[in-house]
Amino acid sequence: MKGRVALITGGATGIGFGIAKAYAACGAKLVIASRNLERLEQAKAELQASGAEVHVVQMDVRDYDAVTNVVNEAVSHFGSLDIVIANAAGNFVVPAEEMSPNAWKAVIDIDLNGTFFCAKAAFEQLKKSEFGGRFIAISTTRALEGWPGCAHAGAAKAGIMSLCRTLANEWGQHGIRCNTIAPGAIGDTEGVKRIYEDQGAGAKQLAMIPLGEFGKTSNIADAAIFLASDAGAYITGADIVVDGGRNRSHAGTGVAGKSE
Ligand code: NAP
Ligand code: COA
Repeated sequence: MKGRVALITGGATGIGFGIAKAYAACGAKLVIASRNLERLEQAKAELQASGAEVHVVQMDVRDYDAVTNVVNEAVSHFGSLDIVIANAAGNFVVPAEEMSPNAWKAVIDIDLNGTFFCAKAAFEQLKKSEFGGRFIAISTTRALEGWPGCAHAGAAKAGIMSLCRTLANEWGQHGIRCNTIAPGAIGDTEGVKRIYEDQGAGAKQLAMIPLGEFGKTSNIADAAIFLASDAGAYITGADIVVDGGRNRSHAGTGVAGKSE
């Protein structure tokens, strides 16, 4: 990873920050970008304290010009852009019949459109990467099975998976590897707080995980290192599931599982 330049959207918090810390420890140079400048500056200070080279840019992934500006900033600051982690997302629990059109649009715009904007804006730079460009989007295991309470995020993440499979085909000729990582429930994150803990569903969720614990942001970061380093050179169009076995769980069905 040494010498590679990585852009991580939403890189100041949660899973994105976990990837930023792990990439920095491997010697990558970082650009982290999101809306909240204060959180970006805090993350930058923490990363720099451990010796990392970090540049932060305030931007909203729904604004294509702002995303293009981040790519330009990465190149003017570090000279190249080798890895993009499309991690920025929004989500909240609301049944479909109560979901306003604008609530649907907000999540589709951030998650799906934002991911496409990142890929499109970074294409020319990823094509030039001496390491073989890497585009990695953060999906979820809930994407393809429907997601009661989160119709917007489920549809957006399914769209992201399809997008990455298309890009893997179209951009393979340019050496750009395009993959998704599908986390399960990752502890101490805004995602798990909003979707499970705030709904009083934390314990139930935990019982569905064969490995018996919520994931750590470092577990997702390990997969992100694998896909972005030479170890992942022959992988494109894949969805790497990192979920402690949750999507294989039979808990609650009366069939198997230590929770029963
Ligand atoms: P999080 O900390 O809230 O991360 C979301 C990040 O996206 C924040 O840093 C936020 O920063 C940024 N963001 C949101 N809207 C944005 C916008 N319009 N423009 C630019 N940046 C924006 O939550 P997380 O749980 O770590 O989630 C990270 C990723 O993992 C998401 O893609 C999520 O869907 C996925 N995921 C999480 C879990 C889980 O268990 N946590 C499971 C499956 C998938 P600002 O507020 O500064 O903009
Ligand atoms: N339930 C129902 N509707 C909700 C909602 C909730 N919990 N939260 C927001 N909405 C609706 C709003 O009412 C609005 O619709 P309206 O105009 O019809 O009233 C629409 O969603 C957009 O909300 P707004 O607050 O203007 O959006 P925003 O662009 O400022 O913020 C969000 C985007 C809503 C996704 C916000 O939650 C966010 O910034 N999330 C980032 C962090 C996150 O979600 N982390 C978890 C990642 S898995």
